Amino acid sequence: MKPKVLIGVTGGIAAYKSAEVVSQLVKAGCDTRVVMTESATKFVGPLTFAALTRQKVITSIFPDTASGTEDVIYPHLYPATEADAFAVLPATADAIAKLANGFGDDIVCCSALSLKNNCKRIFCPAMNTQMWDQPVVKENTRRLLRLGWHQVGPEMGRLACGTTGYGRMSAPTAIAQIILNSVF
Ligand SMILES: Cc1cc2nc3c(=O)[nH]c(=O)nc-3n(C[C@H](O)[C@H](O)[C@H](O)COP(=O)(O)O)c2cc1C
Repeated sequence: MKPKVLIGVTGGIAAYKSAEVVSQLVKAGCDTRVVMTESATKFVGPLTFAALTRQKVITSIFPDTASGTEDVIYPHLYPATEADAFAVLPATADAIAKLANGFGDDIVCCSALSLKNNCKRIFCPAMNTQMWDQPVVKENTRRLLRLGWHQVGPEMGRLACGTTGYGRMSAPTAIAQIILNSVF
């Protein structure tokens, strides 16, 4: 059976790179689903991920309709409860804070609350260097690591905002390989 991978896309400029990761996971034979925060949809359209995965992309905790099967009525549970790996990429400072503290007010962090215990949890921070250097971001990151999450990046490099430093999301191929290693 194909491994089930759930990708959570949050609202950073690196969101466009997550499409390449999703493409590589699909090509490698993963049953890949995507959930996106509302902010993420301002950076890249859900249709991109729907076309790559040929599956519905979920952008809200609340269903589009008040009738249907349980996977339609409970988007905060399905596909999250069935995922073998869950990767948040890019992981914004905001998403890291929410994930580290058990928030459930968007579909990405709410999906994280529905994962099975042995689901691999991966996050790929990406943000401006001064954001990444904030003590509160560091503390939230350490908290996620203590909770069993696996951190990938960020890397040093030129950032979209024009500065150079730590904050760049790791390369899509490297991220895809780490996700694949966690499920195969
Ligand atoms: C152009 C632009 C680029 C942004 N890039 C980032 C980023 O790379 N990393 C980050 O943590 N926040 C970034 N932000 C701020 C987030 O979009 C903001 O904190 C948002 O609330 C995150 O929502 P989410 O975590 O629910 O997706 C950016 C905002 C704008 C307008």
